[in-house]
Amino acid sequence: MQLIDGKKISDEIKAEIREAVEEMCAKNLRPPHLAAVLVGHDGGSETYVAHKVKACEQVGFRSSLIRYEDHVTEKELLQRIAQLNADAEVDGFIVQLPLPRHIDEQKIIEAIEPAKDVDGFHPENAGRMMIGLPCHVSATPAGIMELLRRYRIETKGKHCVVLGRSNIVGKPVSVLMAQKAQPGDATVTVCHSRTKNIAEITRQADIIIAAMGQPEFLTADMVKEGAVVIDVGTTRVPSIETKSGWKLKGDVKFDEVAPKCSYITPVPGGVGPMTVVSLLRNTLQAAKNRKQE
Ligand code: GUN
Repeated sequence: MQLIDGKKISDEIKAEIREAVEEMCAKNLRPPHLAAVLVGHDGGSETYVAHKVKACEQVGFRSSLIRYEDHVTEKELLQRIAQLNADAEVDGFIVQLPLPRHIDEQKIIEAIEPAKDVDGFHPENAGRMMIGLPCHVSATPAGIMELLRRYRIETKGKHCVVLGRSNIVGKPVSVLMAQKAQPGDATVTVCHSRTKNIAEITRQADIIIAAMGQPEFLTADMVKEGAVVIDVGTTRVPSIETKSGWKLKGDVKFDEVAPKCSYITPVPGGVGPMTVVSLLRNTLQAAKNRKQE
């Protein structure tokens, strides 16, 4: 069994991005600038956004954190998005999800200028990804594909089972795994909450991508010997072992599944750090695409 070290790969990619930023600065171009909009004080969202801002610093990007309280109106948010769309100093921005219930998330996503939508959530980016055109691919699926690429894990002709059908992970990663590319060229089955006989299906999988947000859902009896397991789960569960009082749990029962795998990602330190660098990569690309000032 080989552990897929997302932290190590993400550090390598950060070094590559840093170099690209230095090249831009040497040509008198300003460094890429990522803005993040954070609404409220959800613990998970606070942590993710803090990681994103810190990663910007590490690679030499400019970053801006724009905060709103939970009671912000949809209109105020839409106005801020219009400003960010028009701001020539901002290359890309994200609105951290989830948003409070009184705000229509889809309306917010669709208000973002696709060229600046470095999360890749806008229907234009999602649609372009679907048919294999250049676009911002959403960060977690892009990070998973990059891990498979850098570990040279064969995907061609393999049976890949995706657990979960979210717009953020399950749907896009299933499209990427099936596309005519390397990595890709897999036969993909998408399982979800209404799927019957999930264990029967996962036992046929060469590659399992677990992304349904149910801690320790995937157990050893559901995995065939030699499978590759990618764990996208990041549920916070109470813990007396940590100072914060919680720890992250993946969708895979790691201790019993790992011994059966050829490769497996840990939680934390697997897919998570790759999501952050994929966002940086999209922002670098957005900055390279911008019209010369
Ligand atoms: N919430 C959970 N994952 C993400 C993500 O990748 N981007 C944003 N904006 N919100 C999220």
